[in-house]
Amino acid sequence: MTPCPALPDGFDFTDPGLQERRLPLPEFARLRRTAPVAWIPQPRGLAGFDDEGYWAVTRHADVRDASTRPEDFSSARNTAVIRFHPSIRPENIDAQRLMMLNMDAPEHTRVRGIVQRGFTPRAIRALEAALRERATAIVAAARERGSGDFVTDIARELPLQAIAELIGVPQRDRARIFDWSNRMIGYDDPELAVTEESGTQAAAELIAYAMDLAAARAARPARDIVSRLVAAEGEGNLRSDEFGLFVLLLAVAGNETTRNAITHGMHAFLTHPGQWELFKRERPGTAAEEIVRWATPVVCFQRTATRDTALGGVPVREGQRVGLFYASANHDSEVFDSPGSFDITRDPNPHLGFGGGGPHFCLGRSLAALEIELIFTAIADTLPGIRLAGEPRRLRSAWLNGIKEMRVTYE
Ligand code: HEM
Repeated sequence: MTPCPALPDGFDFTDPGLQERRLPLPEFARLRRTAPVAWIPQPRGLAGFDDEGYWAVTRHADVRDASTRPEDFSSARNTAVIRFHPSIRPENIDAQRLMMLNMDAPEHTRVRGIVQRGFTPRAIRALEAALRERATAIVAAARERGSGDFVTDIARELPLQAIAELIGVPQRDRARIFDWSNRMIGYDDPELAVTEESGTQAAAELIAYAMDLAAARAARPARDIVSRLVAAEGEGNLRSDEFGLFVLLLAVAGNETTRNAITHGMHAFLTHPGQWELFKRERPGTAAEEIVRWATPVVCFQRTATRDTALGGVPVREGQRVGLFYASANHDSEVFDSPGSFDITRDPNPHLGFGGGGPHFCLGRSLAALEIELIFTAIADTLPGIRLAGEPRRLRSAWLNGIKEMRVTYE
């Protein structure tokens, strides 16, 4: 395959060093204009897969198109992330196929059908009072400190509490969920010191904990998602290894993403003071969606072509990988007026931060939007004078648009 002439030689959107420096918005813009479905070569074996590169899909319309054609673009042939850290063993990449993110119909339909019940608007509304209380307490504790790291003090707290609340983890065990979740990500960032051993061990411990929780709920059912899943397991609809991995998926999918949306959102407010004043005054209901568009915590996920087909008029061969760049789609001027402006009143806002539609569309969307709304409401109430006290430090990652530290003064 010929490399894309619109990019410098060797340029790869999934290079962790690139994401650590910046989001490659100028390169995305160039591709949207000149080569919206472009071949990006990768050295063989780099990603843990034996192939030579991937198609970078950068236009909003094409990302949507591929997401809604699961019969042509499979989630199961390859796991969602384009590039794994070289130390991750192939069998651990393989094990991820049991997560629904990496399944096709009919397995995907079966598993999603079961867990979906835990995410209905009613189920999410039922969490609101508890989460509002948590958000208020998190922000009050930060205020006491006077200054600190926004990521550890505020952004990472509510998503973890929300997942714990949702799956019914008792308060006394929540710190362990925190720890496991943190140890499972960050392979690409040496500063986080996640190794193959510590990551695998954290995953195994979390799965074992989930199984114990399931056994406890089987004996005494409650009104939480674990009890629902255990009931499904009892009816033979869900295998126990799938259950453990579902909890693991929730811990990763629900935490890393929402934490980064909250941190980017705070950074956007602090660098766009007019928008922060507007939020404090009017609290527009459109703010959470604009924060997710602006942040796009998941830069891209991938699919694999199930047969020779085409995307955006470009032929794609069976077995080739296709990277869906949500971060690029969310800046597509064909769809968004002034995509480079952070505008919390943007409406409509058909961003693809939660995926491009189709069967894998983010299950936690309503929960994430609620968390974002609650935390910024609490910050606006209690810390209206919050200020940046240094440049944010970006996460080194192949696929997450992450901030690992952001020093602030709380007022
Ligand atoms: C799937 C983003 C929060 C659970 C996804 C996908 C994206 C995404 C891009 C893949 C969509 C696709 O492949 O078409 C985000 C963002 C979030 C967020 C940006 C926060 C701002 C959450 C939360 C939860 C969650 C809070 C759960 C508590 C899931 C699950 C899937 C998923 C289970 C897999 C769905 C499937 O494969 O059918 N999310 N997510 N997410 N998300 Fe989220």
